[in-house]
Amino acid sequence: MTSQSSLRFKAMPGGSLNGRIRVPGDKSILHRSIMLGALADGVTEIQGFLEGEDSLATLKAFRAMGVQIDGPDKGRVVVHGVGLHGLKAPTAALDLGNSGTSMRLLSGLLSGQAFDVELVGDASLMSRPMRRVTEPLASMGAVIGTTEKGTAPLRIRGGQTLKGIDYNMPVASAQVKSCLLLAGLYAQGRTCVTEPAPTRDHTERMLAGMGYAVTREQGRACVEGGGSLTAGTIDVPSDISSAAFFLVGATIAPGSDLLIEHVGVNPTRTGVLEILRLMGADIEIQNPRDVGGEPVADLRVRYAPLKGIEIPVEQVPLAIDEFPALFVAAACAEGRTVLTGAEELRVKESDRFQVMADGLQALGVDAQATADGMVIQGGAIGGGQVDSCGDHRIAMSFAMAALRATGDIAIDDCDNVNTSFPDFVGLASTAGLSLRTEG
Ligand code: S3P
Repeated sequence: MTSQSSLRFKAMPGGSLNGRIRVPGDKSILHRSIMLGALADGVTEIQGFLEGEDSLATLKAFRAMGVQIDGPDKGRVVVHGVGLHGLKAPTAALDLGNSGTSMRLLSGLLSGQAFDVELVGDASLMSRPMRRVTEPLASMGAVIGTTEKGTAPLRIRGGQTLKGIDYNMPVASAQVKSCLLLAGLYAQGRTCVTEPAPTRDHTERMLAGMGYAVTREQGRACVEGGGSLTAGTIDVPSDISSAAFFLVGATIAPGSDLLIEHVGVNPTRTGVLEILRLMGADIEIQNPRDVGGEPVADLRVRYAPLKGIEIPVEQVPLAIDEFPALFVAAACAEGRTVLTGAEELRVKESDRFQVMADGLQALGVDAQATADGMVIQGGAIGGGQVDSCGDHRIAMSFAMAALRATGDIAIDDCDNVNTSFPDFVGLASTAGLSLRTEG
């Protein structure tokens, strides 16, 4: 389950980002396209499946449940749907690696199956909180065992009768919302989820796109159990969360002018654009279009001097995965940047406040983690050694910091960059970052 990590990034100081790039497909949409494609009637063709380990973990889980999935082959995956009731019992526990989205969404979907199943993952995933999904699922009638701490392994007992619930989510979490809506497909009656603040709505969009009625009003989404999904073609846009490293890199590096193509700009995901713009970034949204029910655009980003800001709290869920990169932007800004209301960052792939504060301090930046946020005083970034603690987004963020550093930055424990962005080093180097791997 866990592997000894050895990969180190070495990023050399200076340079700028230029040219035209395309980053991997949106991880959130990839997971959902495999899941819903598998449960649909008919054959779903997915384009833009530029694979990372997390999406492959979902893909392998469905293969282990008897679904024929062809590819990935040059970004194309074909899922031969088995219908809502066609999954088969896997012969072993499903190992979801580092992927919280796979585990939380699958816990809902699998609560409605006729068979038992166990979900496991790597050390990081096995320490992440799962009660946020198991408790509301239990109130629908699901039977799921966790450890005493409420963590995986999740042992899901099949053959239960689920009942729809009306759930007010205590945290703004798209994973919890999606988990319950997927369980709702198997429940008697109506399942409704109300969110305290808007979160990514890819599940609702994709369900609707595949012909499953979803009612949506004022922060509330509802499904009725007992429907069916129709297969189709899904063109996956590039992941704005992966684009974020390049948005920050180009913004902080004088001389940069970079075009990032075909990026998903769903309004529930664009907090990073809003926050960077408030800080003074120069980002142009070009050629906005609709691709299969998801907004897509090309993003042109040029160097701009940044100023520190108080990050508006309503932007937090809309930029939830982009804070490691935004903290690097804050370190390059003039003045102080303050983030509050983001306690969720403590339970991501790592404790992102602590790991980022430790790394920034190691590079001489005045960064202080608080209970629910971070305070960063912009200034010079020195060279040094930082530990990503196996968190892919932290590794890539510190690589970009080198564009403004005064010395080399060595980043430890970078293997997990493969979970979301396997060719990060190649693509970043093409764009102008001086980056290599060691070990
Ligand atoms: C995701 C939701 C978010 C995000 C994660 C992907 C999703 O998690 O951080 O990377 O695809 O639904 P939370 O629901 O825990 O906020």
